[in-house]
Amino acid sequence: MNEGGLEAARELLARVRRLAVLTGAGMSAESGVPTFRDAQTGLWSRFDPMQLASPEGFRADPPLVWRWYAWRRELVARARPNAGHLSLAQAAARLDRLQIVTQNVDGLHQRAGSRDVIEIHGNIVRSRCLEECGLVYERPEDLPPGEPPRCPGCGSWLRPDVVWFGEMLDPEALHAAEAAVTGAEALLVVGTSGLVYPAAGLPMHARQAGARVIVVNPQPTEIDSAADVVVRGAAGVVLPALLARESGSAAG
Ligand code: APR
Repeated sequence: MNEGGLEAARELLARVRRLAVLTGAGMSAESGVPTFRDAQTGLWSRFDPMQLASPEGFRADPPLVWRWYAWRRELVARARPNAGHLSLAQAAARLDRLQIVTQNVDGLHQRAGSRDVIEIHGNIVRSRCLEECGLVYERPEDLPPGEPPRCPGCGSWLRPDVVWFGEMLDPEALHAAEAAVTGAEALLVVGTSGLVYPAAGLPMHARQAGARVIVVNPQPTEIDSAADVVVRGAAGVVLPALLARESGSAAG
């Protein structure tokens, strides 16, 4: 862990009452959630990502894509929130506002107890109707069996409620994310490479709106140059150290 960065980040955060957090795949690394590509092992390795995670891929072979997401849902169900997720959830209680904008689809922030979470790439646990009837299902496994199940509303296929290659982000979620980062005094950017837009543009929006930016990542990222402070280290180690409640003045 980068000790100098940690101290500077702690000092900066000590004055902050409205905090926003942007998280990416690295946030869940210590929970053992594989990234999209890391999950493409074994029999899945022979498929192109576009076959597994695009509207065209789904329409070409709905059962294949459904089975891929069912397998990933199982991996996520077995994962547990890590110390980083938990320390963010706990920090919310002593701030005026803590909003989390996540690119992760695993729901681990909510399972750790965070309430104000904006999921800009969707959630792998939810499914929704492929057509425009708009129905969303929190527990697709409760629906009549099938690969994939049919929408009880209109009879179309159900699809995972995630953003696929070539799809736009939900405008409401993106708007909420922009409002969260521009309305905060500081933005913590955790475990994202900063390569995928529009999420990667959020730190710059925050900065332009006057927020201070802190990056937490064991590796260099595209966002480092826009950061006030960079803390090199893993989320599960750095976040507890960064957000631990001050112990107050030491007894003399
Ligand atoms: N703690 C913090 N960061 C970590 C850790 C860790 N323990 N382990 C890895 N990282 C960092 C890596 O150094 C890297 O910068 O997490 C980042 C992961 O980068 P990406 O895999 O590019 O993930 P992300 O930025 O979330 O990608 C954005 O792309 O694949 C799509 O939709 C998917 O939401 C994803 C989006």
